[in-house]
Amino acid sequence: MLALEVQNQNIVTIEGIADGIKLHPVQETMTEEGALQCGYCTPAMILNAVYLLKKNQSPSVKDIKTCISGTICRCTGYTKIEKAIASAAKKLYQSAKQ
Ligand code: FES
Repeated sequence: MLALEVQNQNIVTIEGIADGIKLHPVQETMTEEGALQCGYCTPAMILNAVYLLKKNQSPSVKDIKTCISGTICRCTGYTKIEKAIASAAKKLYQSAKQ
């Protein structure tokens, strides 16, 4: 995406999703479940997951795979990343249902 395409738009970066020192649930589950290795892809994976979970409270495996399909993990940690995103959905929305 070119910077010109987001001119005059709000941009949320990985630093912007935490609440002070409290990590976003997606950040927490990525860490808890060992879904990051070198960390190069991690910000994009997390931001895509946050966007997905805002639109879809109960994403399927296919939804999650589609969500992160634009980001390459050179460490090939896809299985743990997908699992962490699914866990984040549960963390975010199951507690809200109870
Ligand atoms: S964790 Fe290394 S590129 Fe994804």
